[in-house]
Amino acid sequence: MAKRRIGILTSGGDCPGLNATIRGVAKACYDLMGDEKVEIIGITDGYHGLIHNECREMKPSEFSGILTQGGTILGTRRTPYKMMQVVEDDNIDKVAEMKQTYKSNKLDCLLTLGGNGTHKTANLLSEEGLNVIGLPKTIDNDIWGTSVTFGFHTAVDIGTEVVDRIHTTATSHSRVMVIEIMGNKAGWLTLYSGVAGGADIILIPEIPYNIDKVVSAVESRAKAGKQFSIVAVAEGAMDLAESKMKKKDRARIRAEQGYTTATARITKEIQDKTGFETRSVVPGHMLRGGSPSAYDRILATQFGARAARLILEEKYGYSVAKIGTEIGENRLSDVTMKTKFVPLDDKVVVAARDIGISFGD
Ligand code: F6P
Repeated sequence: MAKRRIGILTSGGDCPGLNATIRGVAKACYDLMGDEKVEIIGITDGYHGLIHNECREMKPSEFSGILTQGGTILGTRRTPYKMMQVVEDDNIDKVAEMKQTYKSNKLDCLLTLGGNGTHKTANLLSEEGLNVIGLPKTIDNDIWGTSVTFGFHTAVDIGTEVVDRIHTTATSHSRVMVIEIMGNKAGWLTLYSGVAGGADIILIPEIPYNIDKVVSAVESRAKAGKQFSIVAVAEGAMDLAESKMKKKDRARIRAEQGYTTATARITKEIQDKTGFETRSVVPGHMLRGGSPSAYDRILATQFGARAARLILEEKYGYSVAKIGTEIGENRLSDVTMKTKFVPLDDKVVVAARDIGISFGD
């Protein structure tokens, strides 16, 4: 078997489990094919490095001691898919340059660790004839075809701790605390952190809210003697009227009203309508910081090992996935251009409703 030259990059937002996945791929490749038969080429800062030929051969020792390390040893950057086929002021044909980097480094395949945007470009490169394998990373858990992405459960643990800790201030001060949780257009992270942390109201993009229903949930709790409420709000949450608007119009109308986020508006509206002291909290990028959880270390290891098997079998044009309880793969062309949203009948949503959590609808 000739030596395989495997390019690897991490693209989009960082998240816990990237290094654990890189390690999983590398160790499984060395183990399955033999150290002398594998050359791993690390590409710096995602597709940016692929466009600009910023890459280097890595030593097996570089993949040790990184299981628990957050972020990515390769560096990452957002290189939007929608600009990939657009020649900008720098006059660079990005797709041609990426193909050239692949060719000049004599790569046999390219592994791309990333979210939806990363997968779109991975599919584009696959259609251009490169041997590409995707690995689904994101705290948003919104990649189609996989029941879970690595990074998600660590972020859920952090989000849960935020909701837990906010309870003390909420109860001591008899306040309504509104916590904004990342997740882009999907509500997975807010739903899971909210349920695990014991939020009273959970607002996610998939279930447009009515502020009067949110207010009445807060007031009902107060009538029942609970002088505080915790509201977990997904960054992409919207009310019924906003849900019918284009993103551009939604942003314009919010700006005209003096708000940039749903959280800011919800906080103000709850305070104005209930008279209860209301505060907002935004953990932001803390949700994707630090060491991966045990769950994510295991998932990353499974995903990395699966990718190594695909390389061994020369099965390209796929994205590794968790399908049911099994680790498998989906065609890249099947997973791109889609988003995995929280279904309205999701079992966690149903259980949350059954215990009295309000979704503001
Ligand atoms: O996709 C991961 C994510 O953290 C989203 O939840 C969030 O909307 C976005 O990235 C934030 O991006 P950035 O780090 O570029 O501000």
